[in-house]
Amino acid sequence: MKTIRNLILLVLVAAAAACGGPRPASTVGTTPDVERRVDQLLAKMTLSEKIGQMNQISAGGDPANYAEAVRGGQIGSILNEVDPVRLNEFQRIAVEESRLGIPLLVGRDVIHGFHTVFPIPLGIAATFDPALAEEGARIAALEATAQGIRWTFSPMLDIARDPRWGRMAEGSGEDTWLDARMGEALVRGYQGTQWDTTAMAACVKHFVGYGAAEGGRDYNSTFLSERQLRNVYLPPFEAGIKAGALTLMTSFNDNDGVPSTANRFILKDILRDEWGFDGLVVTDWNSMGEMISHGYGADRKEVAQEAIEAGVDMDMMTYGYISHLEEMVRAGVVKESAIDAAVRNILRVKVLLGLFEHPYVAAAAAAAVQYAPAHLDAARRTAEESAVLLKNDGVLPLDPARVRTILVTGPMADAPHDQLGTWAFDGQKEHTVTPLAALRERFPGRVTYVPGLTYSRQKRDRFDEVVAAARKADVVLVFLGEEAILSGEAHSLADLNLKGSQSELLAALKSAGKPVVATVMAGRPLTIERDLPNCGALLYAFHPGTMGGPALANLIFGDVAPSGKTPVTFLRTVGQVPMYYSHNMTGRPYRGETLLDDIEAEAGQTSLGNTSYYLDYGAYPLFPFGYGLSYTSFAYSDLALDNASYAQDGVIRASCTLTNTGAREGTEVVQVYVRDLVGSLTRPVKELKHFERVTLQAGESRRLEMEIPVSDLAFWGLDGTKKVEPGDFQLWIAGDSNSGEALSFSVR
Ligand code: BGC
Repeated sequence: MKTIRNLILLVLVAAAAACGGPRPASTVGTTPDVERRVDQLLAKMTLSEKIGQMNQISAGGDPANYAEAVRGGQIGSILNEVDPVRLNEFQRIAVEESRLGIPLLVGRDVIHGFHTVFPIPLGIAATFDPALAEEGARIAALEATAQGIRWTFSPMLDIARDPRWGRMAEGSGEDTWLDARMGEALVRGYQGTQWDTTAMAACVKHFVGYGAAEGGRDYNSTFLSERQLRNVYLPPFEAGIKAGALTLMTSFNDNDGVPSTANRFILKDILRDEWGFDGLVVTDWNSMGEMISHGYGADRKEVAQEAIEAGVDMDMMTYGYISHLEEMVRAGVVKESAIDAAVRNILRVKVLLGLFEHPYVAAAAAAAVQYAPAHLDAARRTAEESAVLLKNDGVLPLDPARVRTILVTGPMADAPHDQLGTWAFDGQKEHTVTPLAALRERFPGRVTYVPGLTYSRQKRDRFDEVVAAARKADVVLVFLGEEAILSGEAHSLADLNLKGSQSELLAALKSAGKPVVATVMAGRPLTIERDLPNCGALLYAFHPGTMGGPALANLIFGDVAPSGKTPVTFLRTVGQVPMYYSHNMTGRPYRGETLLDDIEAEAGQTSLGNTSYYLDYGAYPLFPFGYGLSYTSFAYSDLALDNASYAQDGVIRASCTLTNTGAREGTEVVQVYVRDLVGSLTRPVKELKHFERVTLQAGESRRLEMEIPVSDLAFWGLDGTKKVEPGDFQLWIAGDSNSGEALSFSVR
């Protein structure tokens, strides 16, 4: 008897091992009750109704135009309608007139705020403040769900190391760790802590590698190895899913020849089997159909089959599933079990969101939620924290008592639509406060406005009028950059200098001999090296959103000190792309070689003796990742580790004393970087593993204790497993990725 039992056990264990072991628990937090409801509903559905749930269409305008399809159960989700009255009518048709009364899932790109627009995600990342990012996402959810939107296509977790790529604006920049921490925070913010009617499903996108598009040209191919995917591009997605993201979007790109929407390895092996994701996978807009253009399938039927077999649950705008799945199931080409699995994932999300209980919104009350004072306040604080001070010769902060006449100039000084940045579908420019408006309100009668250039690409030969105005002013505030339309989706650039005659405007302003404070609003790090000598101070504000004006006025006049840090490397010239701080250690130039020493001395930077360089532009960027000045200064001292050697399951306790050595309060983003000296693979020169914001009064010192689990040093090594490889490491605690003295430790 015992032997038979053992034999059965053995068979069971072997079977489990063959399937890769037990499946992880639900990532979306489903319950047996939810599953029961999903199963009961599924059991009642016809094949056609099931496939209808898998169909998402863009359905703006009169709901009557879609009534027949909604009533017939042929649409599971819509996007791009935001009017609460119309959305209620859409839901009424679905709930009251369709056979099973399944509500629609209503989606929208609520990317950095809904009506109240926050800084672009790259700016939010510059705050290094996940709690603030979460607060902003919660506010976006409050505003959007009040109108009936229960699903946002955000956060975008694509690592972006090429500023030519316009969508760098939409993500958290170049770093895996920062991207993951921001991603988790945004997921938590959108979805909230409970499934009430303000919960907006998050969608981690674009899965995966989309930010590595060749040449920074949007939609282009990527060639990322499995190791590169696992060590750099996948961790933010895994973090977002662990934080409970209900949905995920496939990307447009093909990686090494396989379009993401048909990529079983990433969508099944990794996402479902390794991570246990039991949420909903949606295609990007017609990304199923684009597989025909990729030459990966001959027609819509073929690509629909590819997508369903890869585990894609919902088709956004290809009409591939709705047109072909039924016939393929009937012909036995596609299994009905694949359809059932997809529909389960969709219904699970609808049940969790409480859509069956609360399909409608109080349309009349929706307006009161928009632009609430607390929302505007949070948007202002985020804009303040997101601005990065890149240069200051002492001109900032300005003393309001000393500058009587202020010249405001430049194409972004009064650009209420453009300062909102990309993806501000619902932000209304009438609610934007521009720098000009904020400064006029604060200093009535003291502001002269001469635009100099009315838009960024404008070309001018002479700037007589604005230079004459500069001569009469006590200070020149010039707002430069790029309009919203120059970054974002399908808006890649090959030249990253300030466009048009903006650099010439800045040079002309300098010739007037008055202090010049430049602010750049842009969707990416532009190459501004040639502009730095022509201003006394430069604030990089990315696109700061609705409250950008008051935030910048507060920074410039010193109510708040800048605390943002670069979430991406600023390059000297576009030819340096790609250049990012956590590049691998190379074999050349050799450590300590004279040529390298010269380049380092010239750049005032330290390379760890391990990088390659250009003859004309050297080895370094303009500003490293993590860089940013304040109106005060900080000193790091008495750096220490609690141990010289750690077990693989141990915790590194790193400490230092941080002192505010300046004359006013300020906030420092303390960053911890680690280097794995010898690995089974070549390893990055440094990797961010921890950061925190610390506010200190003038002269104040604080002992900081930071914990880094040794397991955070794990990576996917040569043998294809993820682990911490024992050996020697270095650790830095510093204010950017290029500073500080290394501490040494080992892992045994
Ligand atoms: C974008 C997605 C977006 C979708 C829906 C696509 O073009 O790539 O990020 O969510 O459109 O608007």
